[in-house]
Formats: sequence, C-alpha cells, structure tokens
Amino acid sequence: MISGTEIKTIPVIRTPRDMQEWSRAKRKEGRTIGCAPTMGALHEGHLSLIRRSASECDETIVTIFVNPTQFAPGEDLEKYPRNEESDLILAGEAGATIAYCPSAEVMYTPDASTWVIEDNMTGIMCGESRPTHFRGVTTVVAKLFNACLPDRAYFGQKDYQQLLVIKRMVSDLDFPVEIVSCPIVRERDGLAMSSRNKYLSADERSDAVILKNALDAACDAVNKGERNPRELERIARTLIETVRTSGIDYVEVRDAEDLSVVDEIDRPVVLALAVLFGETRLIDNVIIYPAKESM
Ligand code: PAJ
Repeated sequence: MISGTEIKTIPVIRTPRDMQEWSRAKRKEGRTIGCAPTMGALHEGHLSLIRRSASECDETIVTIFVNPTQFAPGEDLEKYPRNEESDLILAGEAGATIAYCPSAEVMYTPDASTWVIEDNMTGIMCGESRPTHFRGVTTVVAKLFNACLPDRAYFGQKDYQQLLVIKRMVSDLDFPVEIVSCPIVRERDGLAMSSRNKYLSADERSDAVILKNALDAACDAVNKGERNPRELERIARTLIETVRTSGIDYVEVRDAEDLSVVDEIDRPVVLALAVLFGETRLIDNVIIYPAKESM
C-alpha cells in the first residue's frame, strides 16, 4: 500500500444466520441499523442511499446480491456487472459499516418453494414485460430484511414501481422497517445512473439522454397548464421517437401513490418509462405535482 493512502474495506457476512447474529448484537447495544439493498456494481445512485443511511443510522449494512429470481431467462443475469472488491471499498467510503453478500446457493436452496407476491401493482408497467420480476424482488427483499433486521431501509426513486411495491409489502406483512425513498441521482447530462448504462454503445449512450429530456418536456407542459395524462405520454413518446431506439416498452402517467390509472392530472402523478437502446432496457421517471391553484 502506498504510504499515506488507506484503502478502507469493510467486513463481509455471507449467511443469514451470521447476519442476524450481528444485527441482534448491535440492537442489544441500542444501535440503530440502516440497510441499503443493492445488486452491486455500485455507482453514485447506490452510494447516495448508503450515505443517507450512514447519516441517519448508527450502523449501515450494504447488501450486495445479484438476485437470480428477478431475472427472466434470456435477461442479463450472467453478464450483470460484478465487482465485489471495489464495491466494498466504495461502500466503506460512503459510510457502510458492514456488507451482506450471500451466494445464490445460500439464498435459494434447491427445495425453496415460498414466494412473496404483491398482487395489485406488479402486473403493469415493468411487470407487463417482466411478469416474474417483482415476485423475485419482493421475495429477496423480504429475505434480506429477515437477515439484516434493519430499522430503516433505503431505496431509490429510480425504480419507482419497485419502491411502491416494497412499501406495500412492508405495510401488508407488518415488517418492522421504515422505508426511506431517495431521489434519483443523474449523470451530468441527465441520464439516470444505472449499472446497465455500462452496456450502452457510444451512440446509444448519447441517444439515451432523450429520456430525461422527454420527462422534462412533460413537466414543462404541466407547468403551462396541461392536465391530460395522455397528452403528456404523447409529448414524451414523440420526443423519444426522434432518436433510434430498439423499442419503447411503455410511457405511462399513473397515480404516484398506488399506480392506478389517472384521467386527469389533479393529484401527484408519476410519469414513468422504459425504453430499449440496443439490448439495454433503461427506465426513468419523474413525479409531477400539479400546482395547487389549478387543482
Ligand atoms: P439495484 O438496481 O442495484 O439498485 C439498488 C438500489 O439503488 C435501488 O433502491 C435503486 O432504486 C437504487 N438506485 C439505482 N440507481 C439509482 C439512481 N440513479 N439514483 C438513486 N437510486 C438509485 O434495485 C435493485 O438493485 C434490486 O431490485 C434489489 C432491491 C437490490 C433487490 O434485488
């Protein structure tokens, strides 16, 4: 090691039993525990969750697990970027005190047969093209909570549908965990940070900026008085169609609380989209609050 530079890495726990033991001991000491669940390949979006947790909790667990059950056959499970060593350094620098990195074999025994399924919000939007995705997410997050026993867990608004589904699960199943939602962290040009941005070619990377521009254009329209959700979807879609994509999966305005269909923007809504650039599927969204006086 070069003198004067200290590489800070953090301890790693690899089984649910050891993780529970660690968390119980910390709780006994009266320490609060925050948890930031991730699939690794950490970027500033993930690190913002860890920093937020470190600022609000005595201990912060970063979980790093590329969860096979949320990938469908043919999706990018095998090529999903993995780099545990550098993730541990980045997580430690951001304030994580420990990492929970179970293997797929530890998480899913061959005879496992229990799923956690949210029934109302997972068949639409991302759930329409990825029908088994959210049951993988809810099941793994329930397992991560049962291992980490956190007081608070930090999730990004980048995955807005996931955030609402997790909140619903926590409420419905009485998990003693407070879900904290954190704002989307973006690249300088507006592209939402994502581990999957690494897959983009140079051309796709520059075209992908259109997603943020499309969200901004829809927000501008609302600020100018537009209240028709279908018109916002049209504005965003038309802009996206000015670049070369491999398909628009969806562009939808829905109620920001429960993702129900809205026919008029008279309450907070989310404008969410998923678009393919080459083989890479990118998602983004914005919450739109219509001005009070026109509600
Ligand atoms: P992953 O895609 O690694 O994201 C982990 C967390 O980081 C999620 O809460 C996500 O919303 C947040 N995040 C990602 N990019 C962000 C950005 N640009 N700004 C703010 N937050 C961002 O989401 C998952 O993993 C998995 O589904 C998981 C919840 C870990 C379950 O396997």
